[in-house]
Amino acid sequence: MDRLLIEGGVPLSGEARVSGAKNATLPILCAALLTEEPLTVTNVPHLRDVTTMLNLLAQMGVAISMDEQLGVELVAARIASPVAPYELVRTMRASVLVLGPLIARCGEARVSLPGGCAIGLRPVDQHLKGLQALGATISIEHGYMLARAKRLRSAHICMDLVTVTGTENLMMAAALADGTTVLENAAREPEVVDLANCLNAMGAKVQGAGSDIITIEGVTRLHGARYRAMADRIETGTFLAAAAATGGSITLRDVRPDILDAVLDKLREAGAHVTSGPDWIALEANGALNAVNVRTAPYPAFPTDMQAQFVALNSVARGTALVTETVFENRFMHVQELKRLGADIEVEGNTAVVKGVGHLDGASVMATDLRASASLVLGGLIARGTTTVDRVYHLDRGYERIEEKLSRLGARIRRAR
Ligand code: UD1
Repeated sequence: MDRLLIEGGVPLSGEARVSGAKNATLPILCAALLTEEPLTVTNVPHLRDVTTMLNLLAQMGVAISMDEQLGVELVAARIASPVAPYELVRTMRASVLVLGPLIARCGEARVSLPGGCAIGLRPVDQHLKGLQALGATISIEHGYMLARAKRLRSAHICMDLVTVTGTENLMMAAALADGTTVLENAAREPEVVDLANCLNAMGAKVQGAGSDIITIEGVTRLHGARYRAMADRIETGTFLAAAAATGGSITLRDVRPDILDAVLDKLREAGAHVTSGPDWIALEANGALNAVNVRTAPYPAFPTDMQAQFVALNSVARGTALVTETVFENRFMHVQELKRLGADIEVEGNTAVVKGVGHLDGASVMATDLRASASLVLGGLIARGTTTVDRVYHLDRGYERIEEKLSRLGARIRRAR
C-alpha cells in the first residue's frame, strides 16, 4: 500500500495548475447516460473516483474513449444493463448519481445502496423521495434500490435538506421528464451549476441553478456536446491552506476565485495576503497565522470538504479556534492523527477546539478518508522532521498527483510503496 513521506518545515513557493473538479466531473460523466449521442468531457482530472465512475459506466455498456485533446468521449448509444453493483458503489457513494439518468433514459434502474451505511436509508432518502415524486416506483430488495417508471412526469419537489448529489440526480432525471419540474431547497454548489450548464449544452432547459430554486423544463431527448469541467475549488483551497500554514508564497493557475469567497476570507482573517485575477489566485504568508473559527454549511458558506485542512492550519496558529461541522456527522477522524503530530485538539460534540501550539513534530499517521488525508498532508508539511502518511489511496480518490504538485512547489514529499 502506498505511503507518502514528508520532510516538513519548507514554506511552499512557486506556481501550480489546479485540475478539473472531481465533484463536477462525476455527475457530468453520468449525464452521458441521458443521450445516445457522444458527450465529450474535457479537463477531466486523473483520479481514482473518476476511474471508478468510468468503470461503472463502461459496465453498463457506455463506450468510452479518449480524443486527441485528452477529452473523455462517452457514447451511451445503448444501455445494456442499467445496474450499479455493490462492488463499485461501496467504494464511491457518488455512484448513486447514475440512478436519476438511468430511470429517465431506460425506465428502470438497479442501484446498490451505498455501502458501510450504518444509518440506514438516510443518505439517499431525498434522492428517492424526489424520484418518487417524478413518478418512479422504488423498492429496496437485497440491498439494491429498484426503480421503475414509464416516462417520468414533472413535479414540484421541496427537499427536506440541502443535498448536492440529490439535487444533481433529480436535475438529470427531470431533464427528460414530461413537463416542468421545480426543485426547492436545491443545493447551490458551483458543481450543481456546472452540471446544469453541461445539461443545457446537451439541449436541456434548466434554469436557476446556483439558487435554491431550480426549474427544469423536460425535453423528449438530449443530444451530444463537448463540455469542459470547472476547476476544483477544494484542491485550490487545500493548496492555499498548505501555503498559508507553511508561511509560503504560491500562485495557482486555472482556478475560479469567484466561488471561493468563504475560504479566501478565512485565509485573509488568518493573516495571509491573498490576491486574485480572473483565473489565478496568489497567496503570501509570513510568520504565524491567527486562529480562525470555521463553521461548515452548504454553499456559499464554508465547505465541509475544507474543514479538515483548516483544523490542521489552526493547529499551529496563534490562539484557539472553534471548528464546527454541521454537514456530516462524525467527520473529525483526522483529529486523532493530528494529535499524534503534537496538535492540541479536543472534540466537543460537532466542534473541534483547536489550541495553536508552537510547532508540530513528524510522526506516522494514517489516512481515514479523502479530506482527512489532505489535512494529514498539511500536518506533515508543517511538522518538523519526517511524517509518514499511510493509506494514500484515500488521497488518490480526490487529488491528482498531489505529491508531484507539492514537490513542484518546493515540498519535500515522495511516494513510497
Ligand atoms: C457532496 C460531495 C462531497 C461533499 C458534500 C457536501 C460529490 C460527489 N460529493 O456529497 O464531497 O462533502 O456534497 O458538500 O459531489 N443527506 C440525507 N439524505 C439524502 C442526502 C443527503 O440525509 O438523501 C445528508 C447527508 O447524510 C449529509 C448531508 O445530507 O449529512 C449532505 O450530504 P450531500 O450534500 O448529499 O452530500 P453528497 O452529495 O453525498
